[in-house]
Amino acid sequence: MTTLNETIQIERPAREVFQYVADFATCVEWDSTAIETGRLDDTPVGVGTRYKVVCEAPFGKLPLEYEIVEFEPDHKVVLIGRGRFFEVEDTILITPTKTGCELDYTAVFTWKPWLQKFAASMEPGLKRMGYASVQKGMKAALEDNYAAPEISGENARADRFVPTALMRFTKRGYKRGAKKLFNPMSRYMADKHVVLTGATAGLGKASAEFLAYRGAKLTLVVRNRNKGQALVKELKARTGNKQIALEIADLSLMADVDKVVASLSKKGEPIDVLINNAGALFNPRQVTSEGLEQSFALLLLGPFRLTEALKPLLQHAADLRGEARVINVVSGGMYSQKLRVLDLQNEEDKYSGSVAYARCKRALMIKTEQWAEDWADEGIVVNAMHPGWADTPGVESALPEFHKLTRLVLRTPEEGADTINWLAVATEAGQLSGKLFLDREPRTTHLTDSTRESEESREQLREILGNWDSAHEGDKAA
Ligand SMILES: NC(=O)c1ccc[n+]([C@@H]2O[C@H](COP(=O)([O-])OP(=O)(O)OC[C@H]3O[C@@H](n4cnc5c(N)ncnc54)[C@H](OP(=O)(O)O)[C@@H]3O)[C@@H](O)[C@H]2O)c1
Repeated sequence: MTTLNETIQIERPAREVFQYVADFATCVEWDSTAIETGRLDDTPVGVGTRYKVVCEAPFGKLPLEYEIVEFEPDHKVVLIGRGRFFEVEDTILITPTKTGCELDYTAVFTWKPWLQKFAASMEPGLKRMGYASVQKGMKAALEDNYAAPEISGENARADRFVPTALMRFTKRGYKRGAKKLFNPMSRYMADKHVVLTGATAGLGKASAEFLAYRGAKLTLVVRNRNKGQALVKELKARTGNKQIALEIADLSLMADVDKVVASLSKKGEPIDVLINNAGALFNPRQVTSEGLEQSFALLLLGPFRLTEALKPLLQHAADLRGEARVINVVSGGMYSQKLRVLDLQNEEDKYSGSVAYARCKRALMIKTEQWAEDWADEGIVVNAMHPGWADTPGVESALPEFHKLTRLVLRTPEEGADTINWLAVATEAGQLSGKLFLDREPRTTHLTDSTRESEESREQLREILGNWDSAHEGDKAA
């Protein structure tokens, strides 16, 4: 047997530390040898939860299966890990102190009989690994004091040429970003209210699941009641998170947007994070029952109206907890288009769904920058992200040829949603505003100068969207 023990002091409440470490899926963020983790069951974190953990050992990759065998909320979690060479019992004890809590981590290795004679020679290496994992990895993860990211030199160079920039949209691009460069995200979410649109499929569903596991209070805005109810039931059962509410709205209808706003305002729960994710690409051109072109209604006017109207609740969260965040999901497609401020409803040229979509995302990016500037002193940060190319029902149905061609290099929905989750959860993400992110790094908003808009057209966009109702009073009456 080999026993490792490390103790660290953390200036955070025991419940926050427990929430993070008890879910062993986070171990890839702090364990010095773990390179991959995943849940083996769709169950809440507790006794019986199993994880797959792949560690990098001097002799190659070492897969382990862990199971939680004891679980005392806010205090203790015991796991048994089983692998080819050993069984390990990990006991994590968290005890409140005057300034936060103490975390005591003990790992007891029982070697397979044929390895026992080597146990003593392996001990120094294991001790170094235990020290690196707890005193360095876990301590840093829980101190959560990471600098706001900057674009890496490599990605800045890639963004100078369209083909190399596009390569970053693929699964390989994500892996490049993720490769041990991502910081842990231990921020406590159970007291944060996140409003997420378009949660029933693709990236939204992946984010809803991630945030539910992190314990966030969720309001999912969906258009299909049955799908929404099934999702809430599924998420509650899988994650154990009981704080998941539903709002029903077709976000391309402004009357529905107003209804959601009225309902959320009546409930009065401050909003810590608003994620404008719902989206679709429309071919051929369609007009909503309110007379608006569909892409414009769903991808630009809808999120604009929702965000403006929910500002008091965002402000309330910022006043209470020091910050609130808005995350706009845009698209790399916007790199191909310039703002057409006088043709927001895509009426002038022959309609193309992809072009209309890209122009709306371009306009939402500009609104992101404007909100960030306008709300800078109010504690509300506003950022945009694009997911690269992810394999979602939306991409498969709207772009079947593209999907067929790129299927092998598309990201999973979880990989595509990673930067949404990071923007919602990571402490350091709250330090930046008005940026576009891919793989947790701020990226350029223009790959070529030909898409740059004038200051005048940016201001026109602000005015047109801001004055939409008064300018279209007559339309409603008619
Ligand atoms: N996947 C990619 O590669 C990619 C690339 C760039 C940008 N994006 C952006 O990422 C976001 C998510 O896309 P996705 O790929 O995950 O798409 P998806 O799989 O089609 O999911 C879209 C979600 O939005 C909802 N939605 C669509 N129209 C709505 C409406 N009128 N009202 C309310 N909700 C509506 C859908 O609800 P239903 O389940 O009821 O249909 C679904 O929950 C979008 O903004 C998209 O533009 C995706």
